[in-house]
Amino acid sequence: MIKISPSILSADFMRLGAEIKAAEAAGADVLHIDIMDGHFVPNITIGPGVVESIKKISAIPLDVHLMISDPDKYAEDFIKAGSDYLTVHVEAATHLHRTVQVIKNAGIKAGVSLNPATPVCSLDCILSDIDLVLVMSVNPGFGGQSFIPSALSKIRAIKTAIKEKGSNAIIEVDGGVKPANAREVAEAGADMLVMGSAFFSVEDYGVLMKDLRKKLEGLG
Ligand code: DX5
Ligand code: ZN
Repeated sequence: MIKISPSILSADFMRLGAEIKAAEAAGADVLHIDIMDGHFVPNITIGPGVVESIKKISAIPLDVHLMISDPDKYAEDFIKAGSDYLTVHVEAATHLHRTVQVIKNAGIKAGVSLNPATPVCSLDCILSDIDLVLVMSVNPGFGGQSFIPSALSKIRAIKTAIKEKGSNAIIEVDGGVKPANAREVAEAGADMLVMGSAFFSVEDYGVLMKDLRKKLEGLG
């Protein structure tokens, strides 16, 4: 089954706990949490303290996406905060292999993310070590942007590379994913779809999840 990971970036932060509970009740598989530092990306969100609070109330795994400079330095804080998946950007990590090992040794899933202009070959020496590749289908920093179509061929190329290397990594796709393109993205090879604005802008998350499950039927 293709996993759906609502991004709380587009949730109502005044009612964050209730929003998370509603996403869970609707059947969300994991919860995507975007960490931005105003340096690696031109926006600022939250830190490990908020992730720790979310962990206390969340019944589904936390999918933490670090869009920060020097993730090597902060990975341990986000592990301690309760991440179940922790993803760092290949463009931001100086010691990517070491950081991936730190994450894996903590017993959680290690992810590596690629910006839209970062080539698939940048994964060559890390693909066998990771649990997840996060393909950015927008330039990171903001919710509500349009899906960049070239991400589809990139997803296909990563799927092929995963098979060639015998890696167990799954592919997560983040940015501009909505009910209208979810099937196309999953058919290209995505195993997990992040959905921010398209998820939290609807009135009934349950209706949306039902629609998505139907659209994604037979895949994954
Ligand atoms: C963008 C973030 C995304 C964002 C996606 O930098 O990494 O997770 O929340 O939002 P939508 O689904 O609205 O493109
Ligand atoms: Zn994200």
